[in-house]
Amino acid sequence: MASQVTCEQRLNVRWLGCDGDANTGKDDESEVNVAATVHFLTVCCSNGMSTYLVPDQNTCHQPTSITGENQIPTEEEQAYKKLDEKLKGLLATLPKDKGWRSANIYLHEGFWLSPQVIKGLLMINNYFHAQSTDIFLAAFMKCGTTWLKALMFATANRHRYSFSDHPLRRNGPQSAFPFLDTHIFLDYPITKFEHLPSPRMFATHFAHSLLPTSMSSPSSTCKFVYVCRDPKDALISKWHFMSKLRSKELPPLSFNEAYELFCNGVSEYGPFWDHVLGYWKASQESPEKILFLKYEDMKKEPSVELKKLAAFMGMPFSAEEEKGGVVGEIVKLCSFENLSNLEVNNEGGGAQKFTAQVVVENRDFFRKGKVGDWKNYLTEEMRERIDSITETMFKNSGLTLGLTKEA
Ligand code: A3P
Repeated sequence: MASQVTCEQRLNVRWLGCDGDANTGKDDESEVNVAATVHFLTVCCSNGMSTYLVPDQNTCHQPTSITGENQIPTEEEQAYKKLDEKLKGLLATLPKDKGWRSANIYLHEGFWLSPQVIKGLLMINNYFHAQSTDIFLAAFMKCGTTWLKALMFATANRHRYSFSDHPLRRNGPQSAFPFLDTHIFLDYPITKFEHLPSPRMFATHFAHSLLPTSMSSPSSTCKFVYVCRDPKDALISKWHFMSKLRSKELPPLSFNEAYELFCNGVSEYGPFWDHVLGYWKASQESPEKILFLKYEDMKKEPSVELKKLAAFMGMPFSAEEEKGGVVGEIVKLCSFENLSNLEVNNEGGGAQKFTAQVVVENRDFFRKGKVGDWKNYLTEEMRERIDSITETMFKNSGLTLGLTKEA
């Protein structure tokens, strides 16, 4: 059963993590974001923030880190503390640059990451073991994670729930399944995910090359659904999203600055192109393990892409289901229009806790949901530069993304 969590308990989060800036020794994230966090936590408390659904129990999992449980030091806690020390040491050695949300991000094994997600990565590599039936949703930020979460959850649980009274309508897609990168440390000290029924589903933004072999090795039978998007639209979407989350104590990140950083690969989980290429190449090598989808294709023909998705997940729609309109029901349930208008995704509707410092209102995951919004932001010169980076990076890979002038 989900634990009952009071507002006071939520505000009393026990946190052993190193979320700060190792070079200055300043816990920059917790300091600069505390006002925003309290505001968002209040929102969460009043609206019953959930972390993720446990479908067969029909409940939402609530992390024990915020309930005050598990306070006796355990072997696990000792290991966790050691890992925290390791993180501090590691951050001190990594190149850093400007973050879009927080002051700094760090270059770790070829990818720019915030301190919290580097911690998540270390924990995943040390403690997370993929099961053979797990299905991971992977994407660079702002490429369609929310949409895919909804589609995958609705598809996998279509025999469990009626479409008219569906948990996605009450809880929203963000709660559909855990975001591995940070949910790994939402329970204290380490989340085990043992309570999730098979197939367990997780979302991640981590690049393919950063993942533990239990997840990424072609010999493990767990699967990945990867969704990518025209980098120009991903850039616009990410700039809007991160600007909302950016600490008010930091100067705003101008669009021109974000554009420059993005082109240079400097953005959380980036470089964008290396991220996409990593999954693309792995999908070419193991098509049975990685399904590579494009946001633009999904917008154009959602039913076709959904059928592809269901078959890949090992849950193809039967002829009877297709005749009965199940595909259309799922497409409708998960459409931008439907999800963005749900109460849970509107002002005061709820929020998602990613770390002690980062809590995001559900409504911020929905903006326009369109292909080609970049045209309202990029000059011809800017478009040309991004398209030429894409062309150069993807040369001879067989992959093309949103290169047309007219999207
Ligand atoms: P825009 O900012 O361009 O509108 P992510 O879920 O990976 O964070 O990506 C967010 C982007 O997907 C946002 O793009 C958001 O509006 C869009 N989005 C969210 N839900 C969607 C849905 N059901 N269908 C299509 N797009 C959706």
